Amino acid sequence: MAIPGLRLRLPPMPIAAERIRTSAGTALLAREATADDLTAVNDLHNRCSAQTLLSRYHAGRNRLTVAEWDRMVDPAQGRTLVLTDPTEVVGYANVLRTAPAGPAEVSLLLRDDWQGAGVGRAIGGHLIRVARRLGFTDLVAWTEPDNVRAIALLRGVGARPDGHEPGVICWALDLNRC
Ligand SMILES: CC(C)(COP(=O)(O)OP(=O)(O)OC[C@H]1O[C@@H](n2cnc3c(N)ncnc32)[C@H](O)[C@@H]1OP(=O)(O)O)[C@@H](O)C(=O)NCCC(=O)NCCS
Repeated sequence: MAIPGLRLRLPPMPIAAERIRTSAGTALLAREATADDLTAVNDLHNRCSAQTLLSRYHAGRNRLTVAEWDRMVDPAQGRTLVLTDPTEVVGYANVLRTAPAGPAEVSLLLRDDWQGAGVGRAIGGHLIRVARRLGFTDLVAWTEPDNVRAIALLRGVGARPDGHEPGVICWALDLNRC
């Protein structure tokens, strides 16, 4: 019997790098992240505002640990993509399993000066295609109630509110219905 939510073993196939364009036409490259990207990703964190980091982590975080990053780049967990401009990392996004038979969680972080230019919309669509290729059928994302960009992005792809915890809304997206 198929387990709803995802396959237990994710396919090990590589995800081809994708060119993402801002609304002004500037190109960014979204490529699969590796363990070696942690230093650049933590440098990205150093260059994000406290509000942006709070919106991503819903807590006062300003770096990722080696253990956290190792899990994010483990293909058995899903995929993490880094966005480069192309000389530096200006964002990262991931779709990662939550529990063995649960939905996958989608998260995005863009440096402040790249926000509001259509990158989130483009990388969100790409992440959904990646999630489908990996066999995920249900996605979740967490936002603060006043995160207008993330909420517009989620509503735009058909996600709906599916519960909340103090200060954060859970959004659910059924990939068979969008
Ligand atoms: C959330 C985030 C990924 C969105 O990416 P982005 O590139 O800034 O957003 P986009 O420019 O693609 O816009 C996304 C939507 O918000 C809308 N939007 C953009 N700026 C807006 C603003 N100031 N007010 C209202 N809506 C706005 C856009 O119109 C778009 O909706 P549409 O496609 O229906 O037109 C990015 O802002 C970010 O990294 N924020 C900090 C971390 C975070 O909030 N992560 C999400 C939780 S995991």
